Amino acid sequence: MKFFIDTADVGEIKKALALGLCDGVTTNPSLVAKTGRAFEDVLKEIVGLVPGPISAEVTATDAEGMLAEGRHYAKFGKQVVIKVPLIVEGLRAAKTFADEGIKTNVTLCFSPVQALLAAKAGATYISPFVGRLDDVSEDGMSMVADIIQIYRNYGFKTQVLVASVRHPIHVLQAAKLGADVATIPYSVIEQLAKHPLTDVGLKKFLADWEKVPKAPK
Ligand code: E4P
Repeated sequence: MKFFIDTADVGEIKKALALGLCDGVTTNPSLVAKTGRAFEDVLKEIVGLVPGPISAEVTATDAEGMLAEGRHYAKFGKQVVIKVPLIVEGLRAAKTFADEGIKTNVTLCFSPVQALLAAKAGATYISPFVGRLDDVSEDGMSMVADIIQIYRNYGFKTQVLVASVRHPIHVLQAAKLGADVATIPYSVIEQLAKHPLTDVGLKKFLADWEKVPKAPK
């Protein structure tokens, strides 16, 4: 499973790169707003750092506007993927982008049938939002399982990019289901590395090491 980092914070991207845990990046308008920076500056900087896919989200809600924004962002680098919302206009834009050879990430997916439409439109990635479905007492991961089954049934090439990941169990479940990608906040990457028994074990090893004579007799 590929690890994308879900952030527009260049500092977090550098930390994930140093761990070998940044196969790509996803951004969205809310993440960009948190940086307080202009999106084009942020995108330019990320393109200089990350060779893998970088999702840049359009904010137009009509297909023509999405196409204009997306074609512009696509010029920033060959790894830029245009993120469009899963609405009818977004599907129209995704189809045209596919015809033009521009990669897309169809976002804000909350049902398997929405994901089926995105695949038929030629999306490169589909982003099912698991955390936000869990928030409203639905089962985000069962949506992912259904999408994977439907894509396998028909051999769709669209990659399943599990989004709205909130905790390590989401990452575990995405990997067990065989999702192509999980886009993960940096805080969750740190949580994934932690285990209390690792800390206890390390403390004991270091304490025992103090008892070992330091110089040969
Ligand atoms: C996906 O690409 C989105 O950026 C993101 O995963 C949304 O996560 P949230 O629901 O935690 O805001």
